[in-house]
Amino acid sequence: MSPHTGPLGAHEVRARLAALRQGDLPVHGGRTLAYVYDAGLAEVDALAREAVAAFAGSNGLDPTAFPSLLAMENDLVAFAAELLDAPETMVGTLTSGGTESCLLAVQGARDARPDVTRPSMVLPDTAHAAFHKAAHYFGVRAVVVPTTADHRADPAAMAAAIDETTVLVVASAPSYAHGVVDPVAEVAAAAAAAGVRCHVDACIGGWVLPYAARLGRQVSPWTFAVPGVTSISTDLHKYAYAPKGASLLLHRTPALRRPQYFADAGWPGYTMLNATLQSTRSGGPVAGAWATVRAIGHDGYLELTRRALAATDAIADGIAGLDGLRLVAQPDSTLVGATAEGALDVFTVCDEMAARGWFVQPQMSFGDLPASLHLAVSATTDPDAFSAALTDAVAAARAAGPVVADPEVVALLAALDPATLGEEELDALLAAGGLTETGDATGDAAGGGGGPVLPERMAGVNALLDAAPARLREAVLVAFLDRLARPAPLPAGPVGSAE
Ligand SMILES: Cc1ncc(COP(=O)(O)O)c(C=O)c1O
Repeated sequence: MSPHTGPLGAHEVRARLAALRQGDLPVHGGRTLAYVYDAGLAEVDALAREAVAAFAGSNGLDPTAFPSLLAMENDLVAFAAELLDAPETMVGTLTSGGTESCLLAVQGARDARPDVTRPSMVLPDTAHAAFHKAAHYFGVRAVVVPTTADHRADPAAMAAAIDETTVLVVASAPSYAHGVVDPVAEVAAAAAAAGVRCHVDACIGGWVLPYAARLGRQVSPWTFAVPGVTSISTDLHKYAYAPKGASLLLHRTPALRRPQYFADAGWPGYTMLNATLQSTRSGGPVAGAWATVRAIGHDGYLELTRRALAATDAIADGIAGLDGLRLVAQPDSTLVGATAEGALDVFTVCDEMAARGWFVQPQMSFGDLPASLHLAVSATTDPDAFSAALTDAVAAARAAGPVVADPEVVALLAALDPATLGEEELDALLAAGGLTETGDATGDAAGGGGGPVLPERMAGVNALLDAAPARLREAVLVAFLDRLARPAPLPAGPVGSAE
């Protein structure tokens, strides 16, 4: 029996799962400042996991077969309505995540305008990559408008970019990379004046900004209270602290949602009716989100937001006071972006933070903005411990000196056309970037090199990736992912031989 197919006892399964998790970033503790969000409420967490397990096998494909899932979804939409200043007409859909919510906002906007043959959407250059994915999937041209010096959308430039092909205008509350809220009122007014839908991407701020406003903070308007806002996305698996796999896409009216539905009765099976990209949908994330949101409640979220914002303020103040680092913008929510100045290298700072048990996400340079670090602060993030680690990390990074990409390699990268790169050239690039195992390589990966590997310190790789033109960076990273996502080779020997 092969090691991939032989049955394992329950004890062995648990042991292997635990061992596999050892290589993952921690989900709890507030030290992983991207990907995960931690409320630090162990009981709620346990309850949510129970709910996920209880409904993992239920199928949201047919809400008449599983009315429990529909009831929980409607409950979550009603909860969101209170946060979003929603009119009574508001309706919503639970999706698998922020990207699916954004994809559906674009798909719905496109399909609402069959009269437009070559549809486009107007985006600030800070809009999440989910909209570029939507452009790619749905054939909607992305018209990207530069943001202003404060990294916020430029409403006048966006208004000027709207034309007869525009089916959607997008704003963020806040943007992922810089953590600032776009001037939604002006952007939505421009969209409304042109008779175009306006989507507010509040995937990461939708469960924070309403509470921030209730806590007396200045929050520029972005909800359905703003005329012209037609849809909003807000993720439950981010700052609602729900298990992964849950986001909401809300529309001002049922008519705005209608084109999102897909129906097909033109085959011999059941009439397929979907409001989402997925057809079969696990009930696990629905129940996990419902349990979390109902267990925490408005008062709980108010307190979690108070903590996360206090931690964000303290962290931002710490960064502003630290020689060599500079805030990209004063945070409007719980996200912080910072660049390094002078000889300090931001990628080395990320490595040094990792060595101290903190995951800080590196962001590549974009336009005039140099590379930066990104923090999504959780309610459990300890700002004092963070600032102490950051102070040490900056000192260590300064002592190590910046990682400088070899100018010859940079020139070579700039001259490459990613569209013409074959697998062997990509293998060579991965090897040159240190993303391939060297020495006693175990595998026979394509091109004959070793298997893909992440170096312990990423600054060198990141410096090269940062120097590479964006399209080349995409091609190299896709090649890397492609090589990572391959099953381990089967051991030599006849198929069916004993383990
Ligand atoms: C503003 C914004 N939109 C969309 C997304 C995509 O969300 P997801 O990763 O859940 O697909 C994110 C993720 O961070 C985000 O911050």
